[in-house]
Amino acid sequence: MESIKVYAPATVANVACGFDIFGLAVENPGDEVIVKKRNDDKIIITEITGDQGKLTFDPQKNTVTVPIIKYLEHLNKRTGFDVILHKKMPLGSGLGSSSASSVAGVYAVNQLLDQALPTRELLQFAMEGERIACGSAHADNVAPALMGGFVVIRSYSPLDFFNVPTPDDLYVTIVHPDIEVNTKDARYILKNEVSLKKAISQMGNVAGMIAGLISGDYSLISRSMVDLIIEPVRSILIPQFFEVKMAAVDSGALGCSISGAGPSIFAFSKGKETAEKVAVAMAREYQKVDIKTNVFVSPINKIGPKILD
Ligand code: HSE
Repeated sequence: MESIKVYAPATVANVACGFDIFGLAVENPGDEVIVKKRNDDKIIITEITGDQGKLTFDPQKNTVTVPIIKYLEHLNKRTGFDVILHKKMPLGSGLGSSSASSVAGVYAVNQLLDQALPTRELLQFAMEGERIACGSAHADNVAPALMGGFVVIRSYSPLDFFNVPTPDDLYVTIVHPDIEVNTKDARYILKNEVSLKKAISQMGNVAGMIAGLISGDYSLISRSMVDLIIEPVRSILIPQFFEVKMAAVDSGALGCSISGAGPSIFAFSKGKETAEKVAVAMAREYQKVDIKTNVFVSPINKIGPKILD
């Protein structure tokens, strides 16, 4: 194989109570990356679309190529590639935009090199894309984009992550208001210390979320969608956050919180019909204040990256 086109999905990180440890993949949107073997050892980004000219063509600085370079260094391979990136989701949106590009790129190259490494071993390289994008190599977007489904990062050092099964009728609504929140800034404003009381409540919710997902207990999932640590701080960066959250819950959502570092807001619902109703109600809150939105409704994507051609 000389060339391949790969799709990697958007992701919701944190999923309310699991800051930097929970993430899930959705079916849409997602990025597409085309990788073609070259006759020399150069890595060249030949085309980027859908980014309004905002992304760099420098392979040492773009989140699509940095993981590829690290992967090739690790394998000691001198194969060169032309890389085309089609951004299909807004940047700085809280949808794991940089992760989708990182995962698609390194997954594609691994396919062209006859799956030199098992998929889960690509995570360490994809995380390097996050380091470039926001200064911190967290894995809660890249891991679900790579593995599909709902992923828990149990430990960063050493890296230890696992998938958690999710009920089939669990749907995700995402509303992206047309403003940009820089992940670096959204991390910088967080407090470094947490009270014991809050830590205890948060641990209870983390445990409740996992047990609820595994057993398909929607009420337990709903009760566990509480974030006492991050949401109260970050919500100040997101206009209408509380109005949107209230609209989601009033329309039948199981719960609602910030997607990743924001500004996107996500909600869980039981069933597609409710998730669509929730989407309308959430978007309406932004219409009232003339903020444009992108709205996505999706089941959990259990597959992760997909080979398109
Ligand atoms: N866990 C990360 C954060 C996800 O909330 O900062 C954003 O990339």
